[in-house]
Amino acid sequence: MTEETTKILVTGACGQIGTELVPELRRRYGRENVLAADIREPREPLASSGPFVLADVTDRAGLARLIERHKIGTVYHLAAILSAKGEQDPQRAWIVNVEGLRNILELARAYGLRLFWPSSIAVFGPATPKENVPQETILCPTTIYGITKVAGELLCDYYFHRFGVDVRGLRYPGIISSEALPGGGTTDYAVEIFHAAVKEGRYTCFVREDTVLPMMFMPDAIRAAIELMEAPLAWLKHHANYNIAAMSFSAGELAAEIKRHIPEFICEFEPDPRQAIADSWPRTIDDTAAREEWGWRPRYDLKAMVEAMLKRLSERYALMPRVRAEARGEGEH
Ligand code: NAD
Ligand code: SER
Repeated sequence: MTEETTKILVTGACGQIGTELVPELRRRYGRENVLAADIREPREPLASSGPFVLADVTDRAGLARLIERHKIGTVYHLAAILSAKGEQDPQRAWIVNVEGLRNILELARAYGLRLFWPSSIAVFGPATPKENVPQETILCPTTIYGITKVAGELLCDYYFHRFGVDVRGLRYPGIISSEALPGGGTTDYAVEIFHAAVKEGRYTCFVREDTVLPMMFMPDAIRAAIELMEAPLAWLKHHANYNIAAMSFSAGELAAEIKRHIPEFICEFEPDPRQAIADSWPRTIDDTAAREEWGWRPRYDLKAMVEAMLKRLSERYALMPRVRAEARGEGEH
């Protein structure tokens, strides 16, 4: 990569992960060197934190113009339709997740781009072991989202071996964060519960109390992406499919940990169709390959994450005095 082409493009930048990844990339690599892109306008503070363009990842020609004009050398490709939204419109999920990724891979091949692309625990399915899922295992997901992620992992591997594209990625668990609400996944309850606890003191959870899923706090998720991208290529035996883990807990354990800080908090459990998706995913993940090949270590467990989430959201909502009174639970997207 020459000095001319060291700029970073982040697709899907206005989503849950982009909202926090873009500022961290700007802090590290310079505000003007990180171009955020999405099909929707950014909110503050992302909007005024650096350059932004509207860009649809299904439009390859438009992306090519963007890459040339802005001299892009690296892409963090986050644009996607997540698991719950994907079930509402499987055609769109396939087009955005698979065709969008193929566009980026083709452009990576043509322009010599480096690429980060997140896969997901959604690659696993009912036939995958539930505990300590190994790196190499059965990948037979039952959601269209999971199918697009398996296809994506295979495509990325193919582009690495066939065309030498330096594409890296990992299987994120459910990501918990304070700055943007999640965009339509099955693990969204683990974020919504905090907003509801701080704003209203109660939450109705859409999975059963005993539902255990792998989760990760956003600072760890962002550090994982950047550390993987900064690892020397020679260290990596895998490319776009690293298992990574941080913590696993049941929805009931999460509610109980929040209650330790907010004793009046009430959580009820009314499973909806997302329960079936949660039941198809594993409970715990073996991330030995990520630890051994590029030194992955999580920093947040359940206790530390809950403490940090409640502190941040209490500060945020304290700055919005009408929120508690209105308490309508509207999203930030
Ligand atoms: P999100 O739904 O919050 O954000 C996705 C963004 O993509 C949105 O801002 C949306 O406007 C944008 N987008 C949708 N279609 C687009 C298109 N055609 N062109 C350009 N942009 C488009 O998702 P996220 O949680 O930020 O996830 C980012 C990536 O991480 C995805 O690949 C997702 O599968 C993966 N991931 C996320 C989680 C999680 O818990 N958040 C877990 C595992 C993997
Ligand atoms: N958090 C994501 C989802 O629930 C997992 O990829 O869809």
